[in-house]
Amino acid sequence: MTSPIVVEIESLEGTRAFAQKLAGLLEPGDTVVLEGPLGAGKTSLSRELLFALGVDEDEVITSPTFAILHEYEGRALLVHADLYRLEHPEEVGEIGLDELQAEGAISLIEWGLRFEQELEGVVLLIELGFLKRRVDDGKPSQKERDWDEHDSQRRLVRVHARSERGENILRRLAQEGALSERPG
Ligand SMILES: Nc1ncnc2c1ncn2[C@@H]1O[C@H](COP(=O)(O)OP(=O)(O)OP(=O)(O)O)[C@@H](O)[C@H]1O
Ligand SMILES: [Mg+2]
Repeated sequence: MTSPIVVEIESLEGTRAFAQKLAGLLEPGDTVVLEGPLGAGKTSLSRELLFALGVDEDEVITSPTFAILHEYEGRALLVHADLYRLEHPEEVGEIGLDELQAEGAISLIEWGLRFEQELEGVVLLIELGFLKRRVDDGKPSQKERDWDEHDSQRRLVRVHARSERGENILRRLAQEGALSERPG
């Protein structure tokens, strides 16, 4: 397994830039799972991915927490789901995801890790976390890596491959460079 790509994101502009790189590598049938504590930026990254995948920027993209699943048209059929409120694995079969995936949807699934076994086509797991302020010498302290602490806006994003196709996407993401990679 390729090791995860780790990216530091300083702002929503950074989220957008990262989303534009990743979106270019996604294809119909791909499912991306987004995880991370409340407020880490799962919906923000999903929104930028949807725009980069061709959703009209005038479209208001809200969190699917209550509806569970939102559907969009971009350069493919697009699904944005949030499984936070699901309790049982069987419920995943009841949200209409299968049908959309059978039609070739690209799916972005917040809080999907708990139900990964029930999901089709998972290529990547994106873990988002908060990054604490740098210490004075400019080197990250151990504590800075604590994902649940958030003194600043900075985010740490780890992208893990979940399939062979995911490995391919990771390699291409790395080749594209311009990602502020650092050892995971
Ligand atoms: N890269 C970023 N830089 C600065 N602010 C960000 C970044 N990403 C997200 N935010 C801000 O953090 C807040 C929470 O983001 P978002 O709703 O995307 O998080 P979430 O992980 O989906 O949260 P939840 O688990 O509650 O659904 C928003 O106000 C958003 O604008
Ligand atoms: Mg959210």
